[in-house]
Amino acid sequence: MTENNNREEWGSKIGLILAVAGNAVGLGNFLRFPVQAAQNGGGAFMIPYFLFFLLLGIPLMWIEWGIGRHGGKYGHGSAPGMFERLWNNPAAKYLGTLGLFISLVIMIYYTYIESWTLGFSFFSLTKMYFGEASFDSMKNFLYSYQGRFPAQFSSVGVSYIFLLITFAINFWVLYRGISKGIEKLAKIAMPLLFIFAIVLAIRVITLGVPDPSKPENSVMNGFAFIWNPNFAMLADPSIWLAAAGQIFFTLSVGMGTIHAYASYLKPKDDIALSALATSTTNEFAEVVLGGSIAIPAAVAFFGVAMTTQIALGGAFDLGFVSMSLIFGQIPFGQFFGFIWFLLLFFAGITSSVAMGQPVVAFLEDELGMSRKRAVTLLAVTVFVAVHFVVFFLKYGFLDEMDYWAGTFGLVVFALMETILFMWVFDSRKAWEEMNEGGDIQIPRVFYYIMKFVTPLVLMVVMGWWFINDAIPILLLENAAPENVPYIWGARILMLLICLGLFFLVRLAWKRKTAEQH
Ligand code: ALA
Repeated sequence: MTENNNREEWGSKIGLILAVAGNAVGLGNFLRFPVQAAQNGGGAFMIPYFLFFLLLGIPLMWIEWGIGRHGGKYGHGSAPGMFERLWNNPAAKYLGTLGLFISLVIMIYYTYIESWTLGFSFFSLTKMYFGEASFDSMKNFLYSYQGRFPAQFSSVGVSYIFLLITFAINFWVLYRGISKGIEKLAKIAMPLLFIFAIVLAIRVITLGVPDPSKPENSVMNGFAFIWNPNFAMLADPSIWLAAAGQIFFTLSVGMGTIHAYASYLKPKDDIALSALATSTTNEFAEVVLGGSIAIPAAVAFFGVAMTTQIALGGAFDLGFVSMSLIFGQIPFGQFFGFIWFLLLFFAGITSSVAMGQPVVAFLEDELGMSRKRAVTLLAVTVFVAVHFVVFFLKYGFLDEMDYWAGTFGLVVFALMETILFMWVFDSRKAWEEMNEGGDIQIPRVFYYIMKFVTPLVLMVVMGWWFINDAIPILLLENAAPENVPYIWGARILMLLICLGLFFLVRLAWKRKTAEQH
């Protein structure tokens, strides 16, 4: 069998591009990127960032589209089956299980964060947080919403309702399938996302000097803050690692989600140009739009010193606390707040459905489940697991999952797939596969980059990460003592998920072997 005609397909090329762009453009573009840039040398951060975009991001995009479309030809929509097509060895499918694990674990906590954006867009409409006048009281608003302690919200109840709504929309989209669900969502959400982002960027650029008595707090200084290069910081390896991490997360490479989407292509559909188009769309959304909203606005309202503090506090302080304070102060703040959080919600949901698709495809393709059953099983799993994230948020449960699956796991999986495709499967066949049906020819230099440079850089990044971060995190060196049991809880949950997936992979292959006899 070389072509599986029973699998779903994308309805149109534009729909596919929007869906993959939606997969990549996410909370990472608007919340994670500005904080990373501001913390890691501003304009100087862009040097390693673009270097890794060229040496890791774009090559991995082509590799993942290539592996995905190739696997799809043989009826595989997820990494276990795809890896087996690349490497005829019983171990291949188990290595591919990582592609299910990473996307599933990220989906569990990502959907919860996504639900906050829905909640806050509703609170903008109703002006619910407009009375919070200081950074601390707005932070209390967010924290009590998250259920960390009772303040403006007496419990996590309201947050839970928005989680249920977010959850229902995600699984409804997945249940509707590739062209009627995911593609349709992308066709509505992506154009709106760009319109909202452009409107907000223009609003920020025209902020000028909000308080004439403090002329140094200007939007121009905001742009200077995020973009002025501090080249001295390039000597610090942690900046390079942060740039690599951002490239992985923002492009959704090393997760298994791009593979799943590409598996629904026809064998001769273009991937060379489509992969490039989605990567550049993501970079435009990240660098141009993501870089022009939250940080410059924070500097204009709170000044450089305070913005530095906010950026150190992380993506949520910037996106939820400082932005909400600003919306409370500007004309039509209700409207701008509404579109900012809705923009984040659209960015989030087009990514989170992608994180669900590998497991759905696996259950359908390898275990022969109907889509309804596959989506139900995934929904039950995510629903049970998300409760730990909701209730143990303040103990670092989410952070632990984000480190192993959303940071370290990505580079491990990316290294695995690059070696399998470019070395085990054969680089010439891989190159042909990626160029097959292409609307452009991938520049030849990328053949050498993908074969030699990408795996080498991945090994260095992985090794460095391992020594720098993974070992101290694993040994709980910086963990607060009260968090330790919960961090172990997160690890046990991830282990159980991993074992469950191994079990399902084994079951699927056992069944297939039995059917063949
Ligand atoms: N790529 C997605 C994001 O940036 C996961 O949020």
